[in-house]
Amino acid sequence: MEKNIEVFAGTDRLLLRKFQADDIESFYVYRADPEIAKYQSWENYQYHEAKTFVHNQINHVPNQPGTWFQFAIALKETNELIGDCALHTPLSEPRIVEIGFTLSPKHQGKGYAREAVCAVMDYLFHSLGKHKVIAFTDVRNNKSIAVLERIGMRREGHLLQNYMSKGQWVDEYQYSILASEWESSKFGFKLLAIPTKGEQDDNGNS
Ligand SMILES: CC(C)(COP(=O)(O)OP(=O)(O)OC[C@H]1O[C@@H](n2cnc3c(N)ncnc32)[C@H](O)[C@@H]1OP(=O)(O)O)[C@@H](O)C(=O)NCCC(=O)NCCS
Repeated sequence: MEKNIEVFAGTDRLLLRKFQADDIESFYVYRADPEIAKYQSWENYQYHEAKTFVHNQINHVPNQPGTWFQFAIALKETNELIGDCALHTPLSEPRIVEIGFTLSPKHQGKGYAREAVCAVMDYLFHSLGKHKVIAFTDVRNNKSIAVLERIGMRREGHLLQNYMSKGQWVDEYQYSILASEWESSKFGFKLLAIPTKGEQDDNGNS
């Protein structure tokens, strides 16, 4: 891992960290996969887009109203990038945030998405003091719906023809969870205590 790379949250298997330059190739490979793009806004993802995206994220910090931040999901043992988790902090109400997530196909089916999203959720509620977390999913995206329900989010709405995807209007479900509903203890894995910046020494060590 690059020296002093910022880690926001983690579990026994995963780190939720900032993107780093080494991630471009892995990020490009899964983003360009048509199966990954099927229920997403992008199509025919290009290498130069991945490069720009990663460089923008390196210079970005989470929790800035009016912006999206992307947490890199990496294997704790090897630091390999296996996916990402997006955080949208709206300008109008930054205490209610939106998340999204993607896992590389070769790392699906192992519980990593559920684990990563739980770690991010814990960071959002406990470190950032958010009031509510929401997520939108295409109603046909069964794998995404399964993750959202496994982590205890409630289906709050069925939004008809709510976004334009690959030339057609698509229905979405809105899922939500309130800070008061969030209990990390019900999950079968340990969330790592990540020291805040102020608790780290000058070398970034805790
Ligand atoms: C949505 C997405 C992240 C889900 O990935 P996933 O790997 O299915 O989700 P999880 O990490 O929670 O893994 C769940 C599976 O791992 C299995 N699993 C294996 N080991 C496990 C473990 N140790 N703990 C938990 N589950 C485990 C579960 O049984 C489950 O299998 P099932 O799907 O056959 O029921 C993935 O499909 C994706 O990236 N899709 C494209 C992008 C996208 O559409 N994102 C949604 C936008 S909101």
